[in-house]
Amino acid sequence: MKVDVLLGLQWGDEGKGKIVDVLAPQYQVVARFQGGPNAGHTLEFDGIKHVLHQIPSGIFRPEIKNIIGNGLVLDPIVMKREIDGLAPFNIDFKRNLFISKKASLILPTHSLLDAAYEKSKGESKIGSTLRGIGPTYQDKVARQGLRVGDIILESFEDKYHQLVSQHKTVLDFYEFDYAATLPQKEQAFFEAIAFLKQFNFVDSEYFINQALNDNLSVLAEGAQGSMLDIDFGSYPFVTSSSTVTAGACTGLGISPRHIGEVFGIFKAYCTRVGSGPFPTELLDEMGEKMRQEGREFGSTTGRPRRCGWLDLPALKYAIMINGVTQLIMMKVDVLNIFDTINICTHYQFPDGSTTDQIPYDLCDTDLKPVYKVMQGWATSLENLHTYDELPEPLAAYIDFLEAELGLPIRFISTGPDREAIIHREAQVA
Ligand code: GDP
Ligand code: IMO
Ligand code: MG
Repeated sequence: MKVDVLLGLQWGDEGKGKIVDVLAPQYQVVARFQGGPNAGHTLEFDGIKHVLHQIPSGIFRPEIKNIIGNGLVLDPIVMKREIDGLAPFNIDFKRNLFISKKASLILPTHSLLDAAYEKSKGESKIGSTLRGIGPTYQDKVARQGLRVGDIILESFEDKYHQLVSQHKTVLDFYEFDYAATLPQKEQAFFEAIAFLKQFNFVDSEYFINQALNDNLSVLAEGAQGSMLDIDFGSYPFVTSSSTVTAGACTGLGISPRHIGEVFGIFKAYCTRVGSGPFPTELLDEMGEKMRQEGREFGSTTGRPRRCGWLDLPALKYAIMINGVTQLIMMKVDVLNIFDTINICTHYQFPDGSTTDQIPYDLCDTDLKPVYKVMQGWATSLENLHTYDELPEPLAAYIDFLEAELGLPIRFISTGPDREAIIHREAQVA
């Protein structure tokens, strides 16, 4: 059996939560492999909208085992809130949720450090979600972080206080006031730790490899997007984990030879939350129209998302790094309102030369997008369920993208609901 990987090809919020939910019936295990509560994955069905931050998006399907892998940074307070918030939905977390002992713990001081670092950066801040993600991964790599498995150790509180006293030294250095907020956060933290103890902690690498040996099908759920990857994203305006396919191997403990399909998800346009380069960004009223039509406000922080046209050099780059085998195009309905649609095929440098690759100095170069302009479909896509029903200009848009990207677009999403999806069967040559 193979592990299929589903991940975002842009700057996050592509619609991963929805697609995990749509594909989940084909799988027996869904596993998150990186990130933490910086993620906000939205699922909509039966008229209810759910936003998950740390819990994998297979949790609403009672037959699916959900794993929080070793590659995550886990905030116990957020976890408790998430589980409590799902109480009306009769989810059997004790049967269906498995947390890796090797996942890193986010401490209350990690989010304070996140805020202190951001404040010290001034204008050049990353625009972090302030959930403590970067500082927690920092402690992991510095080999001093705490992990989920530590919470049952007698020495846990000692370890906690040792690390926190180090954090306080750093916070003092940044003259960041924590005295007013920390005690309350610490109380919530220890309550959440006690709450978490009732759930399953596993050696998730054994768990998942056993599942593969038992012929169970596994879907690995990515968070963030490829352009936010720590190595390949628009550094330093990135998150602190490996958001790409390779991250599924290190974040779950599976061998690369076990990777099967790689589903690459992208919006029919682009969005980005936080700072950093965004060559196709629309700073005019067109961008505002896109934001309103797409309801582009962060699922985690509520911040308005920056909006712009589809960026093919970035998409091709993400496809290459991830070894994508199938594409899934999201939020196509948002473009219903435009008479013409732009697609960036190249970037133009200030000297007039062009490229379709991502330049190393992306953050310091003034890149002008070169657009192909296509006719819009300017009609509602509601109640369309098959590829053949799509308006001709949308079919042409899809054909153009498939030719440019060299991959099939297998699903086309036309609305937030689980049912608003068009599955395009494999074409017979
Ligand atoms: P994720 O982080 O990749 O899971 O994406 P988010 O949940 O943060 O953001 C995607 C947003 O778009 C959510 O509000 C979804 O409900 C919504 N959405 C998903 N697919 C579609 C679609 O095809 N059309 C529209 N209009 N909204 C969609
Ligand atoms: P999902 O999984 C969109 C962005 C932040 C910031 C940068 C670093 O819902 O797609 P961090 O808190 O990770 O240190 O922030 O990354 N970011 C996201 N943007 N969707 C996300 O997750 C994101 N997670 C982090 O806005 O620019
Ligand atoms: Mg999101």
